[in-house]
Amino acid sequence: MKPVKVGICGLGTVGGGTFNVLKRNAAEIARRAGRDIEVAQIALRSQNPQCDITGTPITSDVFELVDNPEIDIVIELIGGYTLARELVLRAIDNGKHVVTANKALIAVHGNEIFARAREKGVIVAFEAAVAGGIPVIKAIREGLAANHINWLAGIINGTGNFILSEMREKGRAFADVLAEAQALGYAEADPTFDVEGIDAAHKLTILASIAFGIPLQFDKAYTEGITKLTTADVGYAEALGYRIKHLGVARRTAAGIELRVHPTLIPADRLIANVNGVMNAVMVNGDAAGSTLYYGAGAGMEPTASSVIADLVDVVRALTTDPTNRVPHLAFQPDLLSDHPILPIAACESAYYLRIQAKDRPGVLAQVASILSQRGINIESIMQKEVEEHDGLVPMILVTHRVVEARIDEALAALEALDDVVGKVMRIRVEQLN
Ligand code: HSE
Repeated sequence: MKPVKVGICGLGTVGGGTFNVLKRNAAEIARRAGRDIEVAQIALRSQNPQCDITGTPITSDVFELVDNPEIDIVIELIGGYTLARELVLRAIDNGKHVVTANKALIAVHGNEIFARAREKGVIVAFEAAVAGGIPVIKAIREGLAANHINWLAGIINGTGNFILSEMREKGRAFADVLAEAQALGYAEADPTFDVEGIDAAHKLTILASIAFGIPLQFDKAYTEGITKLTTADVGYAEALGYRIKHLGVARRTAAGIELRVHPTLIPADRLIANVNGVMNAVMVNGDAAGSTLYYGAGAGMEPTASSVIADLVDVVRALTTDPTNRVPHLAFQPDLLSDHPILPIAACESAYYLRIQAKDRPGVLAQVASILSQRGINIESIMQKEVEEHDGLVPMILVTHRVVEARIDEALAALEALDDVVGKVMRIRVEQLN
């Protein structure tokens, strides 16, 4: 049988990894796919010194590649929203299947892209868009197809996890660790996407869609980054038996779906609390399977290439199938997606870690307790530290039971209005994940 011809758009970290693994494991991959896979063209802006592309036709124009009649499958690895959207839609219009690692593209333009792909009877595959080398899309979309999925929670940004791990383990400064993540090729082109949670929210949006059968709704995800975390909070969390992780949480409740990315205290003895460095992990809770955990490299050249090529093999195997019998892009049949609403963060429910900087006077703790109890907020534990030399203030750390966020917002406003409380109260959500 003739080889399947693919075109790779972008020869950066993931594109380079994809080219190299396709070449190195060509025979093994062909044994799985049932056909040889040939890279017929690469669109690149500059050479990748880690790849020997001698003999492979190249172009600097991605549209020349997507219009190339020889190419059956386009692999989009240029990233970003605008050009990537244009080239993916054009590839689809040209009747080509698409494999992409672009989480921003899928989270923001996925509904449009999948609708167009259905019209044209082509596949758009995106395993590499979430959690690098972990086949979590396939696990949720296919492996857990029997389940009513209740919730999922994941460490889905390697750069952020690397920063938090290094801060906790070595007391390293934020900026220094971020620079290292950039040098290692983990960070996004705009690193605020990593540290402000935007990249994780892109991935969470995708995971929630395939878990709950809802359209992609990135604009409704609540996103909070890790830049305001202090080493003091990391230490207090530790003393209370928790680790702070930057978590994406999607939970189905009767009122709607929680879709939120924020720093989170997790009990230190949970497996996921011990996922460190650039590693990612996603926990999925389904009614039949219970909790399952997927762990692995969340970024990097070859781990991400592994997912790109797995998609490629899937597409090659499906080339001759009837488009209506393929696994739906978002796991559920497109005309059966649910309109269960995404909840605003004020309606989400969680436990909370609160750090109050208070003056060292009698009665402050009583006032704090009164404000919380008036709003039905139950305190689970409390820790008061000695007066800090530099400002003469007393850090008061509380962990609450679960409560709707709006209640905590009201309590924080009341606490911050107290004469004896100085500055903003630090609030970090707490999840038990059990
Ligand atoms: N910047 C991303 C991360 C790359 O750090 O996880 C993988 O999506």
